[in-house]
Amino acid sequence: MKRFSIVSTKGGTGKTTTVHNLAAGLNALNKSVLLVDTDPQSNLSYAAGRFNDELGIYDVFNGLSWQSAVQNIRDGLDIISADHRLVYLENKKDLHILQKAFKSVKAYDYLLIDCPPSLGYLTQSALITTGNYLLPLQTEYLAMRNVASLNQLVSELKPERKDIKLAGVILSMYNTRRKLSGEGANIIKQHFKKVFKTVIRNTVAVTEAAAQETDVITYKPSSPGASDFISLAKEVIKLK
Ligand SMILES: Nc1ncnc2c1ncn2[C@@H]1O[C@H](COP(=O)(O)OP(=O)(O)OP(=O)(O)O)[C@@H](O)[C@H]1O
Ligand SMILES: [Mg+2]
Repeated sequence: MKRFSIVSTKGGTGKTTTVHNLAAGLNALNKSVLLVDTDPQSNLSYAAGRFNDELGIYDVFNGLSWQSAVQNIRDGLDIISADHRLVYLENKKDLHILQKAFKSVKAYDYLLIDCPPSLGYLTQSALITTGNYLLPLQTEYLAMRNVASLNQLVSELKPERKDIKLAGVILSMYNTRRKLSGEGANIIKQHFKKVFKTVIRNTVAVTEAAAQETDVITYKPSSPGASDFISLAKEVIKLK
């Protein structure tokens, strides 16, 4: 089983959209996926149509087994949802609660954790649970500005888990009509060793799918958005 957190300090870089549609892409390629939403905003839970009064990740942080909090989306795709109670956890101290809770998750091919746009307790818990993380970056001038604080956090977390590492940068929300997007992409490629070849274009079907509480592959399988996420899923499957 492979595990990834989707992390970035900056808000609105496409974390939730990436994790949701990447899961759908992996699922379309016959992989089983457990999605976990750790963001109090609960955008992933909404986008997957699973925001409700059921038990969620907050309860897992409070001792509930993950099995009791799982909701099914479709065959081979499950989610543990978030809700606003998660804000009360930001002052918690034990960084290993989530890691211990997910020790026994072996039945899936992938565990994907969506994080809030902060480097607080929830993101730290996710990083310690998965080790590997994916970083979505917009191809814009200021994209790199917050990367230093994430690097700093990862080195501070080394005593808790020494093998936390960036599995790859995903160029997200790419605007094919803007020259600056290409320049931004080049700067990012020079800076990071691993940048996925697939570029996630900014397309309307991706947003529409979330509004319809589903992913773009289910919503419009023939759209550019669907093909981008299938292509990203193929690259993720090939990761060592
Ligand atoms: N490829 C895309 N094409 C079109 N719209 C997109 C794309 N990716 C993201 N968006 C839109 O951009 C907005 C921000 O994306 P998203 O919620 O995924 O970012 P985020 O990093 O999870 O944000 P936050 O930091 O608030 O959690 C959303 O309205 C989403 O629908
Ligand atoms: Mg989000």
